[in-house]
Amino acid sequence: MPANAPIGVFDSGIGGLSILRALRAELPGEDFVYLADSGHAPYGERGDAYVTARSRAIVDALRARHGIKALVVACNTATAAAIHLLRPAHPDLPIVGVEPAVKPAVAATRSGHVGVIATRGTAGSAKFQALLAGLRGGVRVTVQPCDGLAYAIERSVLQPAADPGGEVAALCRRYLGALDAPFGNGPGAIDTLVLGCTHYIFAEPVLRAVAGAEVRMIETGAPVARQVRRLLSPGGLQPRADGGRTTLLTTDDPALLGAAAAGWLGLPAGSARAALF
Ligand code: DGL
Repeated sequence: MPANAPIGVFDSGIGGLSILRALRAELPGEDFVYLADSGHAPYGERGDAYVTARSRAIVDALRARHGIKALVVACNTATAAAIHLLRPAHPDLPIVGVEPAVKPAVAATRSGHVGVIATRGTAGSAKFQALLAGLRGGVRVTVQPCDGLAYAIERSVLQPAADPGGEVAALCRRYLGALDAPFGNGPGAIDTLVLGCTHYIFAEPVLRAVAGAEVRMIETGAPVARQVRRLLSPGGLQPRADGGRTTLLTTDDPALLGAAAAGWLGLPAGSARAALF
């Protein structure tokens, strides 16, 4: 694959823009093609077969139409459901996924209690269960699936007027409450919260208003970007310095993604295009 080919990135919607932002900061010379599958969101409550079918279709399209040289699955749910199937189907394509940053959280906690919020798909996956089983002992990890939260965030970011009743805030209060422990630094309190879905960072101010200022929130953008840089190291694919273009595609309304990317990435509004598949 030519070094000047773009890197493909996809998510069920706008969540992966948080990963794309970290990628653009880490690899400013690369070109990126970002696909927001907003027309088929949410993934989190749809089950593995649906998420796997969408992931396969997206990778096929990114390869056929954009000739990508590497792929970042910027979605915890799609990584959990499909990455083990995408890799053997595309053995020549380097693929990086995202998973809830539980290991760094376990290393960081001082209170000994970590909370994880994620989609139902991620929390119930064999991949996530294996991640939990491999943790060192002595730290309590409480996991809360958050049905509807990613989708509510998606809509509130793409169409701010669509959340007049404060659905995002209500869901954040409900799910953080369901972790059933105080937040803070006291014994038994949750002092570290893993944002196990790439959409959740968009609700960080709301989550912080509920959980308190001192709680450490951990997401995965920067470590994933560093992993992609390592992949593009000598001996593997070569990083490039002469690109820097980002193409935005969506299976929903391009004006909405363009506006979200303008706010989040500083890209010109109106820079997104429709992708039909
Ligand atoms: N952003 C995705 C994730 O990281 C999925 C959100 C959804 O569509 O449910 O899991």
